[in-house]
Amino acid sequence: MSTVKHFLQFKDFTREEFDYLFERTRWIKEQFKAYQRYWPLADRTLVMIFEKASTRTRLSFEAGMQQLGGSAIYLNTRDSQLGRGEPVEDAAQVISRMSDIVMIRTFEQDIIERFAANSRVPLINGLTNEYHPCQIMADIYTFIEQRGPIQGKTVAWIGDSNNVCNTWLQAAEVLDFNVHVSTPPGYEVEAERAGLYGTGHFEQFADPMEAARGADLVTTDVWTSMGFEAENEERMRDFADWQVDADMMRVARPEAVFMHCLPAHRGEEVSAEVIDGPQSVVWDEAENRLHVQKALMEYLLLGRINV
Ligand code: CP
Ligand code: NVA
Repeated sequence: MSTVKHFLQFKDFTREEFDYLFERTRWIKEQFKAYQRYWPLADRTLVMIFEKASTRTRLSFEAGMQQLGGSAIYLNTRDSQLGRGEPVEDAAQVISRMSDIVMIRTFEQDIIERFAANSRVPLINGLTNEYHPCQIMADIYTFIEQRGPIQGKTVAWIGDSNNVCNTWLQAAEVLDFNVHVSTPPGYEVEAERAGLYGTGHFEQFADPMEAARGADLVTTDVWTSMGFEAENEERMRDFADWQVDADMMRVARPEAVFMHCLPAHRGEEVSAEVIDGPQSVVWDEAENRLHVQKALMEYLLLGRINV
């Protein structure tokens, strides 16, 4: 089982693999836009397991698998045996005998690692408390599409040091760019939890304006992630000064883009003016989830395609 390739966190792939995947994404997206049928995964089945809510991740994986000629099955905690205490190791044994590839959205990263250790088929992280690697693949693809190579660029992360932030930090190490992070006191990045090598690709700033200054990309996310709802009230108070607004975008580079993985809360982590404004690329970012994940599934199931 150890020879099966999984995508559990961003650093599971090398820079060279991402270069290949972004190239494939471009081609796969072109075929889709031209209504060209491309069914390399005919007869393959994706199982999607959701222990948390989702719109984009479910849609993009399910539509993506169908567009590649395969089929997708949706399971959630509420109406499967996972919610009734079946060990994740047993679920992995069974599910991976009946499918070709699995995607999981769950709580602790440990759950996904235990599943992977017992899976006969590739496993994709569709978000855990710690990481959201498919999101950052889509975000970086979007940046490249809009602005060219990301190497050497500066990304400003404003707000919570959550799963999406941790993944940006891993990506910076793998793809050689910089992240300027500003969180409220008490919510700083934990390098170990983020799974960093410590290559000096990020810097923390007390003042969010200083983190945004000169950035090529400004991004944020909800103040309260799924699974942390009990802290919501306290977080609303603690994060009040960490909103990405027009003043903050003004100190970034003039050609800077704004990104948000969505869903967004206008008036909290981002002002309506910014997310609905000309620098925002959030809809392209969401769409690109579809295209990068098609390239990812193709790669995990078929390896490299030479075209
Ligand atoms: N960005 C993202 O993963 O969205 P969903 O929670 O809707 O899947
Ligand atoms: N950080 C958010 C991302 C949602 C896509 C969460 O985990 O809820």
